[in-house]
Amino acid sequence: MAGRLENRVAIVTGGGHGIGKAYARRLAGEGARVVIAELDEAAAHAVARELAEAGHQALAVATDVSDPASCQRMAAAAMERFGRIDVLVNNAAIFATVPMSRAAFDKIAVEEWDRMMSVNVKGTWLACLAVIPHMRARGYGKIINISSSTSIKGSPSRIHYVTSKAGVIGFTKTLANEVGGDNICVNCVAPGSTLSEENPDEGVLKMRGDAASVRALKRVQTPEDLTGAVLFFASSDSDFITGQTLVVDGGNCLH
Ligand SMILES: NC(=O)c1ccc[n+]([C@@H]2O[C@H](COP(=O)([O-])OP(=O)(O)OC[C@H]3O[C@@H](n4cnc5c(N)ncnc54)[C@H](O)[C@@H]3O)[C@@H](O)[C@H]2O)c1
Repeated sequence: MAGRLENRVAIVTGGGHGIGKAYARRLAGEGARVVIAELDEAAAHAVARELAEAGHQALAVATDVSDPASCQRMAAAAMERFGRIDVLVNNAAIFATVPMSRAAFDKIAVEEWDRMMSVNVKGTWLACLAVIPHMRARGYGKIINISSSTSIKGSPSRIHYVTSKAGVIGFTKTLANEVGGDNICVNCVAPGSTLSEENPDEGVLKMRGDAASVRALKRVQTPEDLTGAVLFFASSDSDFITGQTLVVDGGNCLH
């Protein structure tokens, strides 16, 4: 049976680790040719190699989403290898692999605030700037931005991260309005606390376990819990849905 993304080309930023890796695997499993655009070049190649060994087409591209020229090279590499870009998953962020301080609002360094906005917010915009001209040329596109349920329900600590993820929701609504005329859908997925760390220590396991106890579905959230929502927004099943944010957190943030 043909996959739901047969003939499609998808870019996953930050696809070398954690949840992004799960998105890359799921999109490839549905027939997409996948570009892993990642700051950690070795991790990008490892995921691309894994996908190729499973019979999929994949390309690793070293990318820093906070750098306009790097984003342009990412889109150019995808076009050169596959000739089209149908899906962009803006997943790269300062979070776990590139860690953030989980500190109070008055304990966060100005430099870390700036870097957070540069990657999580500006990086989302820069990747769109590089990719949308190619989507426009074909009159089709699916952009999926990754926010966080913390930006809807609020959360103590890491105010720079939460603020950046709230920005992604406003960005999604505005861009959806601006590119709807080109038949490009822009949606957002807001994950809950997810066990995405590759080698979690006791503290991380406790944090993810505590999150499980306060959601309707009482178990730890895994990266695979998020892939269905991203696949939905990447597929033709969501062709008349744009500007929306879907919370995937097992029923904690009920908005
Ligand atoms: N895990 C959670 O609990 C959770 C909850 C809500 C939202 N999210 C979001 O889900 C996404 C994936 O998170 P994760 O848990 O897999 O964490 P992660 O830190 O492992 O994933 C982020 C990825 O982005 C890459 N990256 C960082 N800076 C980059 C840059 N400048 N350019 C390109 N790539 C860069 C990292 O190398 C990593 O592969 C992030 O957007 C995160 O904010 C995660």
